Amino acid sequence: MKYIKFDKIKSNDLNIIFIYQDKLSALYKSIGKVPVLEDIKLSIANKVTTGKMGTCDVFSSKAGNTSYCLIGLGSQKDLNIQIYEKCLKNAIKKIKEFKMSSMCLDLTNIKIKNYDIIKGSIIEIEKSQYSYKQEIKTALKQCQLKVSKNTDTKEFNKTVIESLAISNGINKSRMLGDTPSNICNPTFLAKEAKKLERINPNLKVEVLDEKKMRALKMGSLLSVSQGSKQPAKLVIIKYMPLKNRQPIVLVGKGITFDTGGISIKPSANMDEMKYDMSGAGSVIGTMQACAEMKLKNNVIGILACAENMPGSQATRPGDVVTSMSGITIEILNTDAEGRLVLCDALTFSKKYKPRYILDMATLTGACLVGLGKYPSGLFSNSDELSDKIKKSSDRTGDRVWQLPLYQDYFEELKTNFADIQNIGGRYGGAITAAAFLAHFTKDEKWAHLDIAGTAWEVGPDKGSTGRPVKLLTDFVISNK
Ligand code: BES
Ligand code: MN
Ligand code: ZN
Repeated sequence: MKYIKFDKIKSNDLNIIFIYQDKLSALYKSIGKVPVLEDIKLSIANKVTTGKMGTCDVFSSKAGNTSYCLIGLGSQKDLNIQIYEKCLKNAIKKIKEFKMSSMCLDLTNIKIKNYDIIKGSIIEIEKSQYSYKQEIKTALKQCQLKVSKNTDTKEFNKTVIESLAISNGINKSRMLGDTPSNICNPTFLAKEAKKLERINPNLKVEVLDEKKMRALKMGSLLSVSQGSKQPAKLVIIKYMPLKNRQPIVLVGKGITFDTGGISIKPSANMDEMKYDMSGAGSVIGTMQACAEMKLKNNVIGILACAENMPGSQATRPGDVVTSMSGITIEILNTDAEGRLVLCDALTFSKKYKPRYILDMATLTGACLVGLGKYPSGLFSNSDELSDKIKKSSDRTGDRVWQLPLYQDYFEELKTNFADIQNIGGRYGGAITAAAFLAHFTKDEKWAHLDIAGTAWEVGPDKGSTGRPVKLLTDFVISNK
């Protein structure tokens, strides 16, 4: 899915320029003599054009062949990644109405600490071209970026290739999250993963069916799918272009629908539980991006795919299962199923001798309650790893917030009937869920991202966000 051609020349079709409310006069210097300069001056004098955050003023030349769109970013000192991306997104939404086939984006007056403005802008523009209903086609074919003079052309071209790979990965992940569960089931996810082999010969996909998982004694993962007609799949996506380099392993929760099982969920908004495979979707998107940009790093993606249904064979609360690690689990709530599929996938991932293991999961409503929908919850047993993830987060604006894993939380998982139980007490549900997972990754550097709040958007833009593909791609690029 490549929509737009990005290059470095100036166009005269639609020019997009960012302005600051506290630096309005700087605008004249940066745009020079343009056909609509007098109109712009008048508009500023009359306080119609203010540069306030989120404003978008369009000026067209009399001949109608040149337009200038001034996007307000608020005051320059307060500018950050979130504000910039939001303003760009909203402006593109408005500009779409013009049905322009090309535009020129002036990036020369934007600087945000740690942020690659070219990359960030390309990703945001490409994201704006996504729609689940593909009949909504875009007119935009070409986008020119005006960048600072000292931008090296070779470096620029590399950034374009990388950014397109990342945005394609993000949009793939969104497409998977948006696809309804009658289509997007575990078998579908396995097939989608298999398709990635076409991109790059260094990428290989292996699918384990339930019989193979039984042989591996994945009793915990299989207990989740046993209430559904849809068989579980464990998908291994290997991207190993380098010899003798331990891989980064990315594990994704792939619950293609979460009814809660016998501990059934209330019906309000249950449709949204189609995005309970977003962890797996983000792994597919990231692996696709790696393969597409021909990344020089070893990365393995593992998808733990199952459907959580209350069929006649479903797990009953109180059932005890044995995980692949040998740890026995008392299932007190069948709606805490994400950790049950992940623990076996995490144990399985050890065989690849990972440098780091990261798992992504829409794991708890508690994470949404605690952190809201802006950052993903971050948990880790390694400061080295969590620091690296925070760095990627700072560079990309794909935010994370770390929560503690004190010993006290582990106490809450003790039971008289098995080694551990699958839920903690009443409070701190996102953390007890992470503590459960930590039991299975004691010997490796591991981090868990709870993306329950960040993988899905509600309201007019309802749908999958593709998070945290941007974070993960930055992580695999910067940790070669
Ligand atoms: N998939 C849900 C978590 C979730 C909730 C994701 C809302 C996105 C939005 C998960 O499987 C779940 O049901 N978790 C339970 C755990 C509880 C039973 C301990 C929850 O959060 O309520
Ligand atoms: Mn659940
Ligand atoms: Zn779930």
